[in-house]
Amino acid sequence: MKLDDCNALITGASAGIGREFARQLARRARSMILVARREDRLAELRDELQQQHPNLVVQIRQADLADLAQLHELMEWLGRERIDVNVLVNNAGLGDSGPFATSDPIRNEQMTLVNVVALTSLTRHILPQMIAKRRGGILNVSSSAGFLPMPGSAVYAATKAYVTSFSEALRAELHGTGVSVCALCPGPVRTEFQQVAKRTDGRPEIGPEFLVIPVERVVRDAIKRLEADKPIVIPGFAMKLVMLLPRLTPMPLLRMLMRRYSGRDSPV
Ligand SMILES: NC(=O)c1ccc[n+]([C@@H]2O[C@H](COP(=O)([O-])OP(=O)(O)OC[C@H]3O[C@@H](n4cnc5c(N)ncnc54)[C@H](OP(=O)(O)O)[C@@H]3O)[C@@H](O)[C@H]2O)c1
Repeated sequence: MKLDDCNALITGASAGIGREFARQLARRARSMILVARREDRLAELRDELQQQHPNLVVQIRQADLADLAQLHELMEWLGRERIDVNVLVNNAGLGDSGPFATSDPIRNEQMTLVNVVALTSLTRHILPQMIAKRRGGILNVSSSAGFLPMPGSAVYAATKAYVTSFSEALRAELHGTGVSVCALCPGPVRTEFQQVAKRTDGRPEIGPEFLVIPVERVVRDAIKRLEADKPIVIPGFAMKLVMLLPRLTPMPLLRMLMRRYSGRDSPV
């Protein structure tokens, strides 16, 4: 899937990884729809991008993806306007940091709705037009947290395990249709994510510094891998290496390690 002249929809474009996707794709896209709750941030980004790329068409849509009515309204709008999206970046997401037993039930619902339900519904809504045109790229922003159960981030890691598994299955189903699916599985990236994920009494945590990777690099790698029709992107050599461990370590040993280090690390 070549991204030149694409029409991209990016969720969670008001900050962090999503905003960087918008900036990097702006150099090549024909049009873009940016979605998030903070409309002022989206408007600022739209003005910046249109100033730098006068031929680019940027539309912004304010939507709370944890609200099913707003999610459906977004999909109805896409249908009504007959917007032909051929690159979908399902990036919006949020985490939590702390034991499940004391977690905020509303936060758990929001994580599930944004990280899982909105991603699935938007993909289902947009996919048929990609298949019909035999052109499409779906980039689902998962996390390295999805490769293993994570005490201290149980719900977040489970939502990301869903995203990776869903992306792999969908990719297999779409083989030969002209639509590629790629799961982006970063380790820690310095964004607003850590601040949003922290509990009221906690501090934002990002994990070991040697694993932290700049947001520009994460997005550059992701775009390259999507274009090369690769299934998974783990940006950074150190993170790739670390992620081999849960794949190679027997589960009984992993369980022991998880009990021992339970909740000490931040979500990624
Ligand atoms: N940063 C990391 O260390 C890291 C590592 C691995 C994976 N990830 C994943 O990367 C993705 C982007 O995270 P980030 O690091 O860029 O975090 P971020 O800076 O906090 O950005 C999150 C984005 O998601 C949007 N969002 C959150 N809740 C939403 C809702 N209810 N409705 C609509 N949009 C919503 C936010 O927009 P509004 O607040 O304006 O709605 C924002 O644009 C997430 O899926 C995250 O799980 C992050």
